[in-house]
Amino acid sequence: MAQSNVFPPSPEFVKRARVQGMEGYRALYRRAAEKPEEFWGELAEKELFFFQKWSHVFEWHPPFAKWFAGGKTNVAYNCLDRHLATHRKNKVAILWEGEPGDQRLISYQELHRLVCRFANVLKARGLKTGDRAIIYMGMVPELPIAMLACARLGITHSVVFGGFSAEALKTRIQDLEAQIVIAADGAWRRGREVRLKDAVDEALPDCPSVRDVVVLERTGGAVHMKDGRDHWWHELDEGVSEHCPAEPLDSEHPLFALYTSGTTGKPKGIVHTTAGYLIHVHMTVQWVFDLREEDTFWCSADIGWVTGHSYIVYGPLSNGATSVMYEGSPDYPQPDRMWRLIEKHRVNILYTSPTAIRAFIRHGDQWPNAHDMSSLRLLGSVGEPINPAAWEWYYKTIGKERCPIVDTWWQTETGGMMIAPMPGAVPLKPGSGTLPMPGVVADVVDLEGQPAPANREGFLIVRRPWPGIARTIWRDPERYRQQYWERIPGVYMTGDAARRDEDGYYWILGRVDDVMNVSGHRLSTMELESALVRHPAVAEAAVVGKPHEITGQAVACFVTLKKGDWNHDELAEDLRKWVAHEIGSFAKPEQIRFTDALPKTRSGKIMRRLLREIVTSNAVTGDVTTLEDLSVVTRLASQHDEE
Ligand code: WTA
Repeated sequence: MAQSNVFPPSPEFVKRARVQGMEGYRALYRRAAEKPEEFWGELAEKELFFFQKWSHVFEWHPPFAKWFAGGKTNVAYNCLDRHLATHRKNKVAILWEGEPGDQRLISYQELHRLVCRFANVLKARGLKTGDRAIIYMGMVPELPIAMLACARLGITHSVVFGGFSAEALKTRIQDLEAQIVIAADGAWRRGREVRLKDAVDEALPDCPSVRDVVVLERTGGAVHMKDGRDHWWHELDEGVSEHCPAEPLDSEHPLFALYTSGTTGKPKGIVHTTAGYLIHVHMTVQWVFDLREEDTFWCSADIGWVTGHSYIVYGPLSNGATSVMYEGSPDYPQPDRMWRLIEKHRVNILYTSPTAIRAFIRHGDQWPNAHDMSSLRLLGSVGEPINPAAWEWYYKTIGKERCPIVDTWWQTETGGMMIAPMPGAVPLKPGSGTLPMPGVVADVVDLEGQPAPANREGFLIVRRPWPGIARTIWRDPERYRQQYWERIPGVYMTGDAARRDEDGYYWILGRVDDVMNVSGHRLSTMELESALVRHPAVAEAAVVGKPHEITGQAVACFVTLKKGDWNHDELAEDLRKWVAHEIGSFAKPEQIRFTDALPKTRSGKIMRRLLREIVTSNAVTGDVTTLEDLSVVTRLASQHDEE
């Protein structure tokens, strides 16, 4: 590797690492590629607890995969019970800090007790294996407690990010046909209360499947409790037994369905199951974070997104780690809140997003420099491409050139990390996710499925199912087949463009479909467009992503109006609020342009490519755009839609 910008692992890091040197990485990768069933079977046997062993490691009826079929296990048992017989019983499992500064340290024993109690509460409401729960809370310990209680009983959960509006909550409850909603009165965000229970009340009249609502008191704001339907968590919890055995569940039992944006107006419920998902997140915590028993691990994502599911809750807890959870905004009350937390709790591993890093760069180095962050030994990045300038700042200012940076590429659909460095083995190149995980047979191809030569861009695909792959879309297996497996028959299409360099390193270029990435949150252009055209003034709308210095992309809308006398400034503001109401405030458009007509093809399709060029050409400043090669993505995207 001749490039100057290559960062090999330091000898001290390698000495203590789980996987040492490129030979270590290659040996694992080779074994997984040559003998996948033996590889995963041995790991599952060694690393996880099963009530009953599987009959087959892998079954493949394309496009539907099964892992560890015939086995019986339980995710909550693996995350809790099995640690109780070890020195971990009084180790902190969840180290939580609220935005106002309150703090809770919950040991594995205590977490086990709390989960068992809440599982008994759910049982008492009549819930059983196979039922569904929607969880709509802020970042409080009761959120993972609710998830683990569901997992313990085999109730499939779907966490709805607290930033989603009542409308978005409603469509998710309806699609999942959930029997119960587990919510909080509110959540703290920048010193203000986000009123979650009000949104539940607004959503529920159209959700006949819901029998019960459990409400956690967090903020103490006034809420309306509907008789017979709504119950306080603390009241149901009174006098409940602390004994609740974990259900032995089929390896393929659906653990959760997490809604994410696709290329249509309707979000898709990505289904993850039990054993395969767990071994994938369990192993990637070891391989990529190189987790040690004494580490304090902080993934700063929100549990409402997949990153929080896999790397705050299931991956770390199944490894018996101390997982940090913070309720509020990273810049509240001051831009050093994250650095304060790292100093105070002596955090060893920080996993965050490029958007957060770029925002911190803007706040200035005085904020991190005022804190002792010498406890850090590894840094991670996820959710969007990290531009070299942000990488370098993270490396120097936060990691003091001591800490490797693991840039991890993956998706809601992949369950866990797919392309990411093993920090004691793989030399880093800023901006590249480096090499695939063992078991991940990735490739960059053209639309015929032919591998692209080195350094040529193409579609990022995976050739074979890995244990953590999403099994289906909730109640829509046909859409699952079409979305991921049909474009190039028999391979998993990620929807991302990438190129691979002469060392085989992957460079992710961005989405080739109509999915945007704003602050690492996935948004669908179609979902935004259908929200806009529901507004009485709007005739047609086209939405595209516009490069943005901090958030990677921002939402830009082109709107044509119905006849009428409109005040454009007021209407633009009104449309922003409308989108916040229909989807959530994180989806608010940055730019709204009114136009007489939208550019269309002869067949009437909106030419988003042109609009993308319009918003891009007059918006790029400095070296901090995340999609440096936007023209490539645009070209691939148009190939992708025209076929
Ligand atoms: C993008 C988040 C570049 C990518 C875990 C993917 C990334 C989408 C990276 C999935 C990365 C995620 N480098 N791009 N390290 N990580 N992406 O489902 O476009 O919210 O397809 O999962 O984010 O977003 P999702």
